[in-house]
Amino acid sequence: MPSPPAATPRPLPLQVSPPPFPLCDLCRTPQPPPVDATSATPPASSPGARRQPTLPLHGKRRAFLMRINNGRMKMRNKQRKSSALNFDAGCRSSLSFIVWSLVGVALIVCFFSVVRQADTRQNHIYFRHLSATRELEEIEEEHFRLPPPHKVNPRAVKRRGPRKAPKVIDQYLDESSAVHALFFPDERSAVNPTKGGNDSMYFYPGRVWLDTDGHAIQAHGGGILYDHITAKYYWYGENKDGLTYQTHPKSTYRVDIIGVSCYSSKNLWSWTNEGIVLPGEPTNVTHDLHKSKVLERPKVIYNDHTGQYVMWVHIDDANYTKASVGVAVSNSPTGPFTYLYSFRPHGFESRDMTIFKDDDGSAYLFYSSRDNTELHVSPLTKDYLNITVAMRRILIRRHREAPAVFKLQGTYYMITSGCSGWAPNRALAHAAESIMGPWETLGNPCVGGNRFFRLTTFLSQSTFVLPLPGLPGTFIFMADRWNPSNLRDSRYVWLPLFIGGLADEPLDYSFGFPAWSRVSIYWHRKWRLPESWKGYT
Ligand code: DGJ
Repeated sequence: MPSPPAATPRPLPLQVSPPPFPLCDLCRTPQPPPVDATSATPPASSPGARRQPTLPLHGKRRAFLMRINNGRMKMRNKQRKSSALNFDAGCRSSLSFIVWSLVGVALIVCFFSVVRQADTRQNHIYFRHLSATRELEEIEEEHFRLPPPHKVNPRAVKRRGPRKAPKVIDQYLDESSAVHALFFPDERSAVNPTKGGNDSMYFYPGRVWLDTDGHAIQAHGGGILYDHITAKYYWYGENKDGLTYQTHPKSTYRVDIIGVSCYSSKNLWSWTNEGIVLPGEPTNVTHDLHKSKVLERPKVIYNDHTGQYVMWVHIDDANYTKASVGVAVSNSPTGPFTYLYSFRPHGFESRDMTIFKDDDGSAYLFYSSRDNTELHVSPLTKDYLNITVAMRRILIRRHREAPAVFKLQGTYYMITSGCSGWAPNRALAHAAESIMGPWETLGNPCVGGNRFFRLTTFLSQSTFVLPLPGLPGTFIFMADRWNPSNLRDSRYVWLPLFIGGLADEPLDYSFGFPAWSRVSIYWHRKWRLPESWKGYT
């Protein structure tokens, strides 16, 4: 049997229940009848209301009008008047509340969409950066097998008694030891930009590094300037291509001043010798740059106002008692630089030093002072030729030197070394919200290699940290592997440095966990800049 056709459901008529109270003429909301204030039950949750029962708005208005009629106003008038106003204001304020809520919602939506856009852009840069530098952030262990110590003549043992085994660091410093040879491989393994091939563009920390003429680069204790005018990098450093000697048996090893060398490059790997841009003084013994004196750690910055390249150096006498800074200028990045003068900043000793140019063009001098027990930081004058009156003492009693300052997203960072002459020691990273301090210590930035490497900054000492344009948070850490008894053969240790993640050591001033990002210098026996990195674009 065919089933009867299903009845089409009819839409139900809308049920409109009559309002419980008559509607107000103004706001069209139901109005309860006036309530006797004394009998109104206060809401349980509002103890204040118990003392002063709240009337529904419209009831209040009526009560107020009645009281006016009764001629009992005066005092209450003020109070009730406000109630009357509340009535109109109630409607208006609910309207304005809705309007403002809408404006608020619109603003929030706008804000989040902008943030999202920025985030997407940031993420894009970040991920591009991440994939480009990921392999440089891999931890590379280094297990070198140290050669056995020298054989000792048994007769000498009998005569002098057994001797303590020399420490690895002492063997490393002894040019005749096999340990030394391990970390100063000879020219056969040199990094050579004139030879193409598979090793092209690879940095090998510690190997001899040749310039485009095939000579070992002489730019120790140096720093790099990127020059927007010539679109090249310039590497300035101490030319130590002379004989190493001591002025007396207990003095530090030294090389006579030859001058400041300059090398240029587009890719940071292949360097062309631009010559000595600030030469030593061969005859005038009273001159700061007389060959018998000390010229160390040259750094150059460009002054946008004067159009001059300004060089700051550590100037000293052979015994390191002059402890001053020297200033030189040039109109060209390749010199010649004119030496101006030397002085003690604010009258204080100044030994290892660096200068830092901030994003806004202001520049600062950092120097180790008071017997290297602390660092000082002082802003330079607008022309960069002097210091201003301001000065702050930082890292007090920390005994740090070899400062290298850099910046990321408004935070300043610095790597320093301990003070042990030409011998390597443990690096420390520091950070500050303001360049004038306070500076906090984040810990040892060295990652990978092995314990010995990490405790000796990979057998080197900081000199400069170069930001890599286009790769935010990526830097090149530049350091010197000094060869004390043959300083001209000192090597360069360049390694990738990253800022990211939380610092893992307690801070100087804050209790609890570090709030700063970690600074990490990753050991790599061999590494290159990301292929996608096209220099300064
Ligand atoms: C350590 C400094 O960092 C170097 O620049 C140099 O001054 C040596 N001391 C000299 O011993």
